[in-house]
Amino acid sequence: MTSLKLTIDQFKATGLDSLRYREIRDVTYVQRPVDAIQKLNVFVPEGYFENQTINGYTRETAPILMPNTVGGYMPGPSDYPGKTEWPTNSKTIIAALKHGYVVVSAGLRGWPTTDSNGNFIGKAPAFIVDMKAAIRFVKFNAETIFGNTDRIIPNGTSAGGATAALAGTAGNAPYFDSALSVLGAAPATDDVFAVSSYCPIHNLEHSDAAYEWEFSGVNDWYRQKITGPLDHPVFTPWQGTLSETEQHWSYELKQQFITYLNSLHLTDTAGHQLDLDTTGNGSFKNLIIKLLMASAQRAVDAGVDVHKYQGIKVEAGRVVGVDWSAYLKSLTRMKAVPAFDDLNLESPETHLFGDHETSAKHFTAFGQTHSQKPSVMAPAELIAAVNPITYIGQSDNIVAKHWRIRHGAADRDTSFAIPTILAVMLQNSGAEVDFQLPWDTPHSGDYDLAALFDWVDQICH
Ligand code: DHB
Repeated sequence: MTSLKLTIDQFKATGLDSLRYREIRDVTYVQRPVDAIQKLNVFVPEGYFENQTINGYTRETAPILMPNTVGGYMPGPSDYPGKTEWPTNSKTIIAALKHGYVVVSAGLRGWPTTDSNGNFIGKAPAFIVDMKAAIRFVKFNAETIFGNTDRIIPNGTSAGGATAALAGTAGNAPYFDSALSVLGAAPATDDVFAVSSYCPIHNLEHSDAAYEWEFSGVNDWYRQKITGPLDHPVFTPWQGTLSETEQHWSYELKQQFITYLNSLHLTDTAGHQLDLDTTGNGSFKNLIIKLLMASAQRAVDAGVDVHKYQGIKVEAGRVVGVDWSAYLKSLTRMKAVPAFDDLNLESPETHLFGDHETSAKHFTAFGQTHSQKPSVMAPAELIAAVNPITYIGQSDNIVAKHWRIRHGAADRDTSFAIPTILAVMLQNSGAEVDFQLPWDTPHSGDYDLAALFDWVDQICH
């Protein structure tokens, strides 16, 4: 049985170029691991071993950043400064250590993970169970690990952004207790202080509908087909045009989104209702247009020509409007219909919802009804349990107080509605939310580390 207690003598002095830090590598963070990926690395700036202050932080007060490497809901291995093999956020870790943060990088299972019998052991909710176990481990080792375990900040991009967001809303949620005790997770809580989430691919059961609300009328799609081994994927251009049936489905899904959005009873910061009429227009859409206008205005102010995309109206240096249809047409559609709950059970999301023996399942009634493969639907309770939205405003879990959500204004992987719903629901429930759609930014993350760290410093000092 693994002892989950770290000792100070486990830290080894090391460095990369001019950066000096200490590390503990490859610690198994649960007592009964089921996969070799369930290990974490701890990195501490050397200055804290010499009682220095870095950027106003001490060894007791430094925030603990927990970046994950999850992408496509695939396994996200633990990471380290100078790592060159994909996937890595090495640059983020290096910059964070220089800035005085403690960094903990935990490896998390993903949908392709199998055991020695070939059974799947990384299907949902494995990714979040592992993330929570790693957070519990950090808190359990508060005395040794350096930094302030009341200032833990998960960070991630795309499926990793969803992982960070779910860690942020589902703090201590009872749903995960049995899975955590089966693994022998450390006896500690797993709620966190703040979340940094880039383009989170979450709220999956509503993402198909949201995508059609956004892209209805745009019928050509352009994307990359991913083939080859998971650790060395090969990308080739793949494109198509929606068939008449798909266009009909697009309309049907768009209507579903309108019903869903109105059921949420969201409000803006002035308390006005955010909703949509039967044509899909209304105050919720206007909020997204305002976010796009603010994004374009920041770009204009920085001297960027915003007419790379159509539909941005600029008068005398002021962005005065966005022609929604023109903008989206020039942005282009990436995914066919349905965008996530693929009828051939080939998308990462359908694989996420498989089980020990089943590689993929549907997670929407629409997908199950129209499936082109023999299929079953994932349990409704599981689908809800891995959606960060489920936990906002609930009473038996703790939601992080501070959120920084970024979703590029050129991101076509999921609808702008998806991060906007997350941001607004968090705001409506009393969290502090910093949400922007950075201009001309595709599906990506950690592209603005200086601004990210300014935000961290502002909420932590
Ligand atoms: C990711 C991107 C997607 O478009 C998607 O459907 C799921 C995950 C990703 O980059 O993690």
